[in-house]
Amino acid sequence: MNMNMNTNMTLKLFLLTASAVVFNNNAVSAFVAPSATTCKRQVLTVAAARRQQNLVVLQVATADSIVDDDTVNGASWEDPDSIDDIQSAIEVMEKLQKGETGAIPDDHFDGAKIKPRKPVCTDMEDDDLDGAVLKELAESEESNNALDRPIDFLKNLMKGYRYIKRRDGKIEYASYPRHYDNPDLDLSWLMKMMKGAPPPEYLFSKRKIGRLVKFITPFLLSMQVTKRKAKKSDPEDMYEDLFTKYTRGIPKNKRLMKHWEEDKEFARQFIAGLNPVMVSVGKNLSQLTDSLVSKLGKDDLQGLIDEKRLFVVDYDELIEFASPPPSGYEREFYAPVVVLELNKERTELDVMGIQLDRTDDAKVYTKDDGDEWLYAKTHVASADSNVHEWVSHLGKTHLAFEPHIIAIHNTLKMKNHALAPYFAPLVKDTLFLNWAARKSLANYATDEKTEGSTGDLLSSIGVSQYMQINRKWWKSYDFFKSSGLPTELESRGFDKDFDMPCYLFREDGMKLWDAYGEFASNYVDEIYHCDADVAKDDVVQEWAEETTAMDKGAVPGFPTVINDKATLVKIMQTLMWVPSGLHAAMNFPQYDYYSYVPNKPLFTKAKKANPSRKDVFDKVMPDLGMTIKTMQLTRVLTIPSETCIDDLDDNFAEVGEASYKKLKSKLDTISDEIEDRNVANKNKGAAVYSYLNPAVVPASIDI
Ligand SMILES: [Fe+2]
Repeated sequence: MNMNMNTNMTLKLFLLTASAVVFNNNAVSAFVAPSATTCKRQVLTVAAARRQQNLVVLQVATADSIVDDDTVNGASWEDPDSIDDIQSAIEVMEKLQKGETGAIPDDHFDGAKIKPRKPVCTDMEDDDLDGAVLKELAESEESNNALDRPIDFLKNLMKGYRYIKRRDGKIEYASYPRHYDNPDLDLSWLMKMMKGAPPPEYLFSKRKIGRLVKFITPFLLSMQVTKRKAKKSDPEDMYEDLFTKYTRGIPKNKRLMKHWEEDKEFARQFIAGLNPVMVSVGKNLSQLTDSLVSKLGKDDLQGLIDEKRLFVVDYDELIEFASPPPSGYEREFYAPVVVLELNKERTELDVMGIQLDRTDDAKVYTKDDGDEWLYAKTHVASADSNVHEWVSHLGKTHLAFEPHIIAIHNTLKMKNHALAPYFAPLVKDTLFLNWAARKSLANYATDEKTEGSTGDLLSSIGVSQYMQINRKWWKSYDFFKSSGLPTELESRGFDKDFDMPCYLFREDGMKLWDAYGEFASNYVDEIYHCDADVAKDDVVQEWAEETTAMDKGAVPGFPTVINDKATLVKIMQTLMWVPSGLHAAMNFPQYDYYSYVPNKPLFTKAKKANPSRKDVFDKVMPDLGMTIKTMQLTRVLTIPSETCIDDLDDNFAEVGEASYKKLKSKLDTISDEIEDRNVANKNKGAAVYSYLNPAVVPASIDI
């Protein structure tokens, strides 16, 4: 073994053992070579030479950048710790790639400081990563380049960071420019984003970057091994072989792999799966096409409507596209309609029929259609995946919350207002994530020379199309109605007294929603005596104005003035629900449901007449390469949070301490209730819905 191989091996073993530490939440010192030597700090390109009106340019140094230390208008810019974090994270990664593990500062990969969290019951199963497995992974022939790509990605992303700081410290708003795929389409109606990169205090900490690297490393190495083993499999077996031929370090949803093709599992996922915000209560036959009514029976359907047991899921958003992006891999998709039926006991959903095409004579598929039934369900799953990732997840949480973070920063935070601590944990990491997403996964290119996004490659519809869907949603958006849980549920027919305890997103979500409302109310009571106190609070009014002004946040439906405590509470409740509850429900099922690709393909390759079962697996579902990419991406995007909603005592040490104490106690009760139900369900072999258990619900959109 030559020297290079030795250093490579050292690096892999280091990362792998560090990963095992994170998974086990044990002390890290036994593994990490720590050292007294902390990473030598490079000089940062702080401040700037150029006078640009009122701007100070702040750059992160790259290896070849020139340090330019100057002041603007006599004002100097203090070197913030978070920039230092990024710079030293880059240095550490470069050292890791060279196999220089001896000088790694222990605060980069400090598993010991991560508080052990209460384990919650899930559907996922994992094999222990013991020492022998780690060694085997590090020695495997596939491991040589497995780490380079993610490390290079993070490194390049961070090297591309440039921040222009205004002298007043505010973050500027920007509108989305036209996309080159649709140059005639004005996207200025979309939700506002920040101009450029986020301020340094919104970047990931070096510990978070370290955690991400550690979290994903053993998975990537295991994926390399399993990919080789699954390569020669028959298309139908390949997806399962990825989890069974080499099982170490690859969490698997065994229950789903066993039941995914069952109609009741397919239906269940609309109320307690990946995208449980699409289903509507069937209220009249006009919601259905003539083809569906004729095939499924007018009287039967009306009977179900009368008993409030009929449900509809339609993907109208996709109608106007229904063809793939102009460039990219082969893919075909529909804008399906699905009809579901709740059993008399109101405990279980089943699927009655699916219409894929939107023509008057469109075929309606049912359980009697043999292999074509699987074909229809596969195309529904693909449509659902696209709407989930681009709209329910990215649009309705990540992007919709961005103007609020900017407005809160520019007013409450800058004025050090008593409401600022309430929002501090809710805005962590999101600006950096959104900025990074626009540069990678959802690369927002304005010219075709720019490299396409990962999202363009991995999904049926691309960046340009999803922006149009979100634009439509935002045009009819109303802050309280669209982002408040009970009103959003009502918009789909789920009134307060609608009887459906198996709709677990609604059940668990409403518990969180109510707890957040009570917390917001108590917090407001701690600050204000009466409505008049709110009305005369200039900073609060400035915040409302900033959030709503067309040249600033431009959030439709957000109050332009806040004159009473009740309105303020409602705003705070909604602004806590979106980044914690709603995002958790949209984000964290990703790996659990996407990793077994036949269950939720992110795209389908072809439309087929009279497809056989083999056609569905071979010609319609994504191939091995795309499957691996989906698994890797969704694994990264589901790293557990370090800042969960039930663990914010430090944040509320000065303001809101008593109110938070009450919230925490309430969240503990909710967590126990959800956990007891999940354990009971798991014992019965039923699915688990753990995403809104407060013990794992992050406070912010932090991944
Ligand atoms: Fe997310």
